[in-house]
Amino acid sequence: MSVSNLGLIQSWQFYHGKARFLACLEGLLRDDGLFTLFKVFAVGQLINLHSAIVISINSGAVSLHSRYGLSFACLFLAGLFCQLSLFKGKVMQTQVIRIHQHGDSSVMQLETSSVAAPQAGEVLLKQTAIGVNFIDTYHRSGLYPLSLPSGLGVEACGVVEAIGAGVTEFKPGDRVAYAGGALGAYAVHRLMPADKLVHVPAGVSDDIAAGTLLRGMTAQYLLKKTFPVHVGQTILFHAAAGGVGQLACQWARELGATVIGTVGSEEKAKIARTYCDHIIGYEHFSEQVREITGGKGVSVVYDGVGADTFAGSLDCLAVRGMLVSFGNASGPVPAFEPAILAQKGSLFFTRPTLGHYTSTRAELVNTAADYFHAVRRGLLKPEVGQSYALADAAQAHQDLALRKTQGSTLLRP
Ligand SMILES: NC(=O)c1ccc[n+]([C@@H]2O[C@H](COP(=O)([O-])OP(=O)(O)OC[C@H]3O[C@@H](n4cnc5c(N)ncnc54)[C@H](OP(=O)(O)O)[C@@H]3O)[C@@H](O)[C@H]2O)c1
Repeated sequence: MSVSNLGLIQSWQFYHGKARFLACLEGLLRDDGLFTLFKVFAVGQLINLHSAIVISINSGAVSLHSRYGLSFACLFLAGLFCQLSLFKGKVMQTQVIRIHQHGDSSVMQLETSSVAAPQAGEVLLKQTAIGVNFIDTYHRSGLYPLSLPSGLGVEACGVVEAIGAGVTEFKPGDRVAYAGGALGAYAVHRLMPADKLVHVPAGVSDDIAAGTLLRGMTAQYLLKKTFPVHVGQTILFHAAAGGVGQLACQWARELGATVIGTVGSEEKAKIARTYCDHIIGYEHFSEQVREITGGKGVSVVYDGVGADTFAGSLDCLAVRGMLVSFGNASGPVPAFEPAILAQKGSLFFTRPTLGHYTSTRAELVNTAADYFHAVRRGLLKPEVGQSYALADAAQAHQDLALRKTQGSTLLRP
């Protein structure tokens, strides 16, 4: 068998699947009397696909060298060349949503795209469910500008199909999820850096992992790190029936707080009443909060609504309370004079983001594990309120912006 045959077979493997590749390789090796190579390859498969190919090429070179007296060095280099071109090459077609300009939901297009084999430190995923987050609409609209064209989406769950060199924490077949990293989750297959992935434990479905990992980790750091919530405190959480809101309000209650939540409709009030102590509308919400707290105000306001609620949120706080402004669902918070914080009670203001609370591998793994643990113990009951086909991502964005969604939203690849 020549080295170029090996290269061809490798390519064939990526195009047509491992099983047919193995059958073909076995046949060729028997013909050539190089059955040893097949055995070495099979051992390599137990390690991983990438190592298997490397080992096969090298052992093939050794076999050919001893059988035909060919230069081992030449064969080795040729094999390496085949491998490098293979791994640099585009090996698979997939479907992705891309934008070529910022704008309304109509700028999202379903396109066919190539996915290369995983490089060192990367993992190839076949995604099973994709999370839709409010931040995706900011990326699409240009509120958070991107270099274009660009993929969209930051969260999904999937199965590992192949791994690149040096990946030790994951293997083909593992169920994994991510919430962050480069945009591009709106896709059937994608490459991800292994250090952005977490294992999805048994007892957590693909839909829950894909639709709620980002929101669950957000709830975790908001309640346990940004402003740690304790027994006896009263808190206000805006959009209590939304994706982050549902999880955070349930968790805050578990932590012993009295939870006041705002909602935009009676339908959402019905949902939020099951886990909040008090449900109020947005109209005159600061007066309502003062009334509920006997004039004292709340220790903390978690505000993902932004522009429309900023001023009222400051008016809800007790002396030395904290406004945690973590989102812009109604638009960005306007510029303000710091002196206003002194006038309203020596208040604290922070604008946190998940990336800064999960920037090390340990923080990411621990935050995800804490969230999944709370789900598995039944402390949190995440809800996927609606799902759409990947091709209908535009509709999902419209419904999110029109406040029609409840809980988390999924795309199905
Ligand atoms: N900083 C972070 O680390 C971080 C991480 C994740 C999410 N976030 C932010 O958290 C917020 C919630 O995210 P999510 O994905 O879970 O969304 P979501 O809560 O499911 O949806 C946003 C909700 O905001 C409320 N809302 C109030 N005024 C609105 C308006 N003018 N337009 C649209 N919605 C309005 C709506 O609920 P009602 O109808 O009940 O008012 C709506 O359902 C977003 O601002 C997001 O950017 C921040």
